[in-house]
Formats: sequence, structure tokens, C-alpha cells
Amino acid sequence: MENQEKKKIVLSAIQPTGTPTLGNYLGALKNWKTMANDYNCLYAVADLHSITVRPEPADLRRRTLEMYALLIALGLDPEKNTIFIQSMVPEHAQLAWILDCYTQFGEASRMTQFKDKSEKHPDNVNVGLFAYPVLMAADILLYQTDFVPIGADQKQHLEITRNIAERFNGLYGNTFKLPEPFIGKVGARVMSLQEPTKKMSKSDTNVKGFISVLDDDNAIMKKIKSAVTDSEAKVYYGEGKDGVNNLMGIYSCCTGKTFDEIEKEFDGKGYGDFKTAVGEAVIEELRPLKEEYARLINDKAYLYDCAKLGAEKASYFASRTLKKAMKKVGFIQIDK
Ligand code: TYM
Repeated sequence: MENQEKKKIVLSAIQPTGTPTLGNYLGALKNWKTMANDYNCLYAVADLHSITVRPEPADLRRRTLEMYALLIALGLDPEKNTIFIQSMVPEHAQLAWILDCYTQFGEASRMTQFKDKSEKHPDNVNVGLFAYPVLMAADILLYQTDFVPIGADQKQHLEITRNIAERFNGLYGNTFKLPEPFIGKVGARVMSLQEPTKKMSKSDTNVKGFISVLDDDNAIMKKIKSAVTDSEAKVYYGEGKDGVNNLMGIYSCCTGKTFDEIEKEFDGKGYGDFKTAVGEAVIEELRPLKEEYARLINDKAYLYDCAKLGAEKASYFASRTLKKAMKKVGFIQIDK
């Protein structure tokens, strides 16, 4: 424990809104796994964030547990790291309220994700959707986090987190550490296989556009084979080659090969060979995760035990920061 506390702190979270895509995996989860070796890591299933879209209660419960199982299936050790479900740690919602009062309406209105989501669902633009980045700031700031491994689409939320923390620290003295985003060089923005100028997303109505991490091998290969490319039939990274660039990024993430190495490997070969190799690499990359997930998902008792332990550990850290912030704001503190 003592040793763990000296390590730099990493926190990230993922919403349980469906099976994660290859984008979530390469942009975030894969880095979560790598960072677990060197840092004191806290990873959460962000179920509080998910109710902005009003899921069926039974679906939310099932998906939360599935996502939790997936995080452990990544190979994360629930004893060594802190793997928890956000709603089981009440400090998140408590700090979020405080931070709401230190966030300006204007800055929250400028969040592109808020603008996109409210355009897409004009019938349910709720206050939770608006305050969503502030809850995310609370998630991060509660743990005095050093690094936040995320995909490129979450960068703006990291910026607002830093702004809120700076403002609070400026008013009350040093309370929150300013976190840095950790965004991988490749994989930070995996694009749709059908419309490679758009981010790969699990809410895409065209299921051929995304790969779910639990897709079977056949489905993975089929989707990669039908990925949109171009008519040049030459594998290289370049402008106007969004489809090929995207597949190269995916291949590079799964194999560790550089773009130069990939160009050489497929020199003189067509897209057929290239796509087969990408498909195989993705299948191999996801195989251990799928096998481990299949083993874990039926062991509810174990998952609940891990979630309880995770919530206790998270709460231990979170309550320290929350107390500090509450004291600074001026709330009475009487030991219970
Ligand atoms: P979420 O659940 O949408 O996505 C989880 C992670 O996956 C990344 N990601 C991608 N990366 C590369 N290519 C893509 N196509 C792609 N799609 C998604 C996201 O950037 C993210 O890192 N608000 C967050 C969850 C959250 C959080 C936090 C994250 C809540 N609290 C605190 C970090 C810290 C979200 O909705 O991610």
C-alpha cells in the first residue's frame, strides 16, 4: 500500500452504454492495461454518466456488470489496482455538486460533446447532460490524479477539468492536482470502418462501421474486409486515404509495427492481403480479452466482491479530497 501511494496516480473511466468498440479498446483500454504496471491506477465504470440518456434500469444494471467484468478481463488485477463502479462511491456526486458551482454556464456550453449530443437528442437535453463534464472533473480531481488515459474525443473535457481545478485552487489554495491527459500516438481516434472521416462509435446505426470487442472472429474479419478504402490499391499513409490510414492505425496498434514497416510489408500487395492481415491481428489482439470475459461473466459473486473492494478503496482516497474541498468551501465538519 505504502509503495503504491508513492507511484503516480492514473484514473480513467468508461460508460456502460454497450459493448466497447475497438475504438474504446485501442484508444483507452489497451493503455489502461499497460499503465497498470507502472502506476497506481483507478479505473471506473461511469454508470452515473450513463443516465443522461435514460437507459432501461435492468439494461443499465446488466451493462454495468458486463463492463466491470470486461475491465477485469483486460488483465487488470482488482487487488493491485482500484477497479470500481462510480455510483458505489458517493463522493463523486458530492464533489460534482461543489464543482458545478465553480463552473461557468458559458464554458460548459462550449463543450462540443454537449453540443453534438443535444443536437442528436433534442427531446432530452437534460441538465445532467450539460453538467456531465463537471462530474467527469470530479471523477478525476477526487484522486489527485496525475494522468488520464483517454481517446482524443475526451481532450476538451480534460481541459475544462484543469480550468475548474485551477479556479478552485486560485480561490482557496492548493486543493486539487492538475491532471494531464495521456493520449496515445496511434489509436487515439479510431474511425468508422464505413465512414472513415467519422469516429468509430458503438451508437453507429450501421453495425459494419464498428467492431465490438466481443464480436466473434468471423464478424471481425467480415467487417474489416468490407471496410471502405479507395481505388488506389496501395498501402501507405497519406492525405485522402482515410480508410487505409485508419486500418494502418489499427494494425499498428495491434502489432506494434510502425507505419514505415507496414508500408514495406505490403509493398506490391493489394488491399485484400492487407485487410486479411489487419483482420487477423485484431482477432489475435482481442482473443485473450474475450476468453477471460467468457470465464468471468458467469461468476457474479466474484465480480460483486471485486466491486465492493474497489468501491471501498476508491472511497478511502476520494473522501480525503472531498473533506478537504468541503472544508475550504466553508461547510461545517463535525466528526461523526
Ligand atoms: P466513453 O465511454 O465514451 O469512452 C471510453 C474511452 O474510449 C475512448 N474512445 C475512443 N478512442 C479512440 N477512438 C475512438 N473511436 C473512441 N471512442 C471512444 C474515449 O476517449 C474514452 O477514453 N466521459 C467519458 C467517460 C468518463 C471519464 C471520466 C474518462 C467519465 N469520467 C474520467 C476519463 C476520466 C466517456 O464517455 O468515455
